[in-house]
Amino acid sequence: MKYKLAHKYDKYMDKMMGPNPIKLQEELLEGHNIPKGATVMDLGSGQGLTSVFLVKEYGFRVFATDLWSDPTDNMEFFRSTGLDTDKIIPIHADANDLPYAKDFFDAVVSTDSYNYFGREKDYLGQKLLPYVKRGGYIYISVPGMKKDCHDNLPKELLLSWTPEQMDYIHDALYWERLIRQTEGVDILSIHEMESNEEAWADWLACDNEYAVEDRAAMEAGGGRYMNFIGMIIKRQ
Ligand SMILES: C[S@@+](CC[C@H](N)C(=O)[O-])C[C@H]1O[C@@H](n2cnc3c(N)ncnc32)[C@H](O)[C@@H]1O
Repeated sequence: MKYKLAHKYDKYMDKMMGPNPIKLQEELLEGHNIPKGATVMDLGSGQGLTSVFLVKEYGFRVFATDLWSDPTDNMEFFRSTGLDTDKIIPIHADANDLPYAKDFFDAVVSTDSYNYFGREKDYLGQKLLPYVKRGGYIYISVPGMKKDCHDNLPKELLLSWTPEQMDYIHDALYWERLIRQTEGVDILSIHEMESNEEAWADWLACDNEYAVEDRAAMEAGGGRYMNFIGMIIKRQ
């Protein structure tokens, strides 16, 4: 995959919380249908790297919404990149209990986080979709498996992750079956992402303690079971 934008964010790689989220997001949004100036929720925004990318490269107004990170730290990071809080708003919130008005967002973008909270059958329809305007979009990328194998997990994967952690990771068929149960959405695409290998390589090369832990599985060849899955959904 040829990235036109991602390299500009190499200087912020210490903000990564998993496989290079900028490359994943650039691929996910290729040919996207979200207008400039749109109000967008970056759901599970982590330390806000992807939110900065959405504001600077696509001209969105972004609500950087995350559970584990500190919104004050994120605000300081946003200001250090030259952005102010009229364009990028740090919000501490649980994706299961979002603090927004209904029909508020033109779009949601969620990179490497939906797999933590989006696996319940009713999550999309009841807890996320109401906040998206009719005709609005949801762009999701999640770490996935090429084929679900939870009843016989390859030993390579168990070098870095427990079976409980692997329960967050599923194949494209799992996500398609789950999302098909939601009324009021059109599934525009559920696909394997090209960025998988590069995004992982960038992550494993950094010295984040979680990246270091992930190396054992990937160096033993665990990567052949893994992928990233992109999902594009439209509210009817
Ligand atoms: C692997 S990090 C990815 C962060 C960021 N999107 C990125 O790619 O750099 C996963 C993120 O999911 C967020 N998350 C997990 N469960 C959540 C929940 N219930 N509500 C909101 N965010 C959640 C965490 O706070 C964490 O920042």
